[in-house]
Amino acid sequence: MVLLQHILALPFLCLGYSSIAASAPANSNGDPSSSYPWQWGGAHQDVGYWFDEFQDTLATMQSPTFWNGTYWPASIQWIGAVLNTLVVASDRSLAHALQEYGGGDVPGAYTTAASIQIETQKYFSDVEAYYGDEDVIQIFDAAYDDAQWVVLEWLEAIEFINQYDAYANSALGQADIARFAHRAHIFYNIVQSQFDTSLCGGGITWNPALAPYKNAITNELFISSSIGMYLYFPGDTDTDPYPSPAYVNATNTTLPALPALAAHNPSLLTTAVEEYAWFKTHNFTDAQGLIVDGFHISDNQTTCDQRNEMVYTYNQGVLLSGLRQLWEATGDAMYLTDGYAFVQTVINATGWYARSAAEAGQWTGLGRNGIMEDYCDAPANCSQDNQIFKGIYFHHLDLFCDPLPTSTPLVAGLTKVAPAALASEHASKCASYTPWIKHNANAALSTRNSTGVIGGWWGASYVNKTQEPWPAYAAPRPRGSSDEWNEPWVLEQEPWLCRGWHCREGGRAKRGNRKRTAGLFSMRGAAAKRDANDGGRGRTVETEGSGLGVVKAASDFTLRSAS
Ligand SMILES: *[C@@H]1O[C@H](CO)[C@@H](O)[C@H](O)[C@H]1NC(C)=O
Ligand SMILES: *[C@@H]1O[C@H](CO)[C@@H](O)[C@H](O)[C@H]1NC(C)=O
Ligand SMILES: *[C@@H]1O[C@H](CO)[C@@H](O)[C@H](O)[C@H]1NC(C)=O
Ligand SMILES: *[C@@H]1O[C@H](CO)[C@@H](O)[C@H](O)[C@H]1NC(C)=O
Ligand SMILES: *[C@@H]1O[C@H](CO)[C@@H](O)[C@H](O)[C@H]1NC(C)=O
Ligand SMILES: *[C@@H]1O[C@H](CO)[C@@H](O)[C@H](O)[C@H]1NC(C)=O
Ligand SMILES: *[C@@H]1O[C@H](CO)[C@@H](O)[C@H](O)[C@H]1NC(C)=O
Ligand SMILES: *[C@@H]1O[C@H](CO)[C@@H](O)[C@H](O)[C@H]1NC(C)=O
Ligand SMILES: *[C@@H]1O[C@H](CO)[C@@H](O)[C@H](O)[C@H]1NC(C)=O
Repeated sequence: MVLLQHILALPFLCLGYSSIAASAPANSNGDPSSSYPWQWGGAHQDVGYWFDEFQDTLATMQSPTFWNGTYWPASIQWIGAVLNTLVVASDRSLAHALQEYGGGDVPGAYTTAASIQIETQKYFSDVEAYYGDEDVIQIFDAAYDDAQWVVLEWLEAIEFINQYDAYANSALGQADIARFAHRAHIFYNIVQSQFDTSLCGGGITWNPALAPYKNAITNELFISSSIGMYLYFPGDTDTDPYPSPAYVNATNTTLPALPALAAHNPSLLTTAVEEYAWFKTHNFTDAQGLIVDGFHISDNQTTCDQRNEMVYTYNQGVLLSGLRQLWEATGDAMYLTDGYAFVQTVINATGWYARSAAEAGQWTGLGRNGIMEDYCDAPANCSQDNQIFKGIYFHHLDLFCDPLPTSTPLVAGLTKVAPAALASEHASKCASYTPWIKHNANAALSTRNSTGVIGGWWGASYVNKTQEPWPAYAAPRPRGSSDEWNEPWVLEQEPWLCRGWHCREGGRAKRGNRKRTAGLFSMRGAAAKRDANDGGRGRTVETEGSGLGVVKAASDFTLRSAS
């Protein structure tokens, strides 16, 4: 396969997919603020182009290559919850496009409004099917981050139902709300009381089967899941505590009844506010402002004194949706201001603000050439988990940038509306991210193989690296970092190992149960045709899901700027 190599050709690299044939002149500049190629948002400003690319990316993830009608058999549980969240969030974007154009076609798109109607319902039936096949028993006994992906998943589905039905005057999914809410409740209940001030002054530990580790992801999720439960959980009085009727037989464990939980319980708001305050005062950011992975606690100490300096993309994202919803609930603009700073730090850390090609090409903390990367992307040795991280980032950035309501609160009688000045500041801050998001989406699309599947190292084409993994392009990890997602064996060593101090050997969340290393080092056969994105685990439903996260964001941001 001969791949075009110039950056300006990125949008057209999609072999077999190129819907628009015109090539941009070398100095053409999609982003009026800049003429640097590493700051170039691509030739396509139009809503229709991005909407079609988004539709294609979603369709590929839900094609028989990955989706068997009820499940993504090659994935693992927590990632399944994330993928299903992406499907339902995509459905919200589709419904939103219908709404935005009054039920008419999206301007310039090949996809017609009539087909969007059909697709929206088809994808919702995928979400319902996944509800039935989600392996809730396995994920119920996993770690405290895992449970919360499930909470966000089903809250997102409830939001879709409410949004769609209000717009379409339909009853789609109404019959699902109670069972979706019950599942969110069961999984939130796992973490609800885990905020523990005896160590580190607060926060939730990652995994009770390991030595205490207060990490960014579990605690960012706790902000987002708590505030999400406060705003969008409809209440649940079903006291059945079991994630599945087969739970007792499968685990030989009985559980106490699930306490009822009302909608908009104020303690959920208090929890989210306290959790973010704790997070902010415990310096989770490195000298550059990037969020590091977490803290261990030295022997006989109670403070978070051993920081793991590892930086992953998803840790920069999940709190953004929480900050946005904390604003909705409190009207305190500080939450948004903090969010803008986190986003700027990340954009900067991809080399976007470089002043020369040589500078842009240097690793800047989270990528180079304006393109987001995890450390494992270029050497193609990401674990299955790490392959979905970038998609999580862009999904939560997308949620953060939903326009602020100025007249009608999102939840009647509960949430705030924004003064016009704040709403317009939010819109313009978010619009300023659009060229960067499109640059990343173009890069992701440029990694598609001839059947349209997006790869993991989005920056490969920019540096003309397409034929094999490039360990020479691996950036050295931060000093004092431990990469537990890609080197799972570290969990068997100090300081991760459970030694009975604030941890339960063999208890909930034994990492080995997660099958998380399955396939980690299964390289493709040497005979197989390879490019950088076939290396390591290759193109998978996880790399496609990450692609969906960024391409969905590109479509949503373009549509917002156009309307
Ligand atoms: C999809 O795969 C899952 C897991 O392997 C299996 O349980 C399920 O029955 C499959 N669904 C269909 C429709 O084949
Ligand atoms: C649990 O096991 C018992 C005894 O084998 C069986 O009778 C029952 O049907 C099982 N229940 C479920 C939900 O599988
Ligand atoms: C289930 O738990 C009971 C009580 O702890 C124990 O006696 C029994 O052996 C267990 N059964 C299995 C299959 O583990
Ligand atoms: C957080 O830690 C980093 C790295 O040690 C340091 O550069 C930064 O100044 C600290 N931030 C605060 C607010 O203490
Ligand atoms: C980007 O980060 C560098 C290093 O942290 C900093 O000096 C610079 O001011 C930042 N630029 C922008 C535009 O945020
Ligand atoms: C921690 O305390 C225990 C019990 O007092 C002691 O045996 C151990 O040496 C201490 N560890 C450190 C690192 O001080
Ligand atoms: C990639 O190839 C293009 C076209 O040949 C060239 O302009 C560009 O400088 C190359 N980039 C790198 C990083 O080698
Ligand atoms: C991935 O490859 C790079 C470059 O060879 C290496 O430095 C790093 O340790 C590898 N990581 C894993 C998890 O194998
Ligand atoms: C593209 O990648 C997918 C996922 O790895 C694979 O199933 C498919 O065969 C690939 N297509 C080609 C033409 O290699």
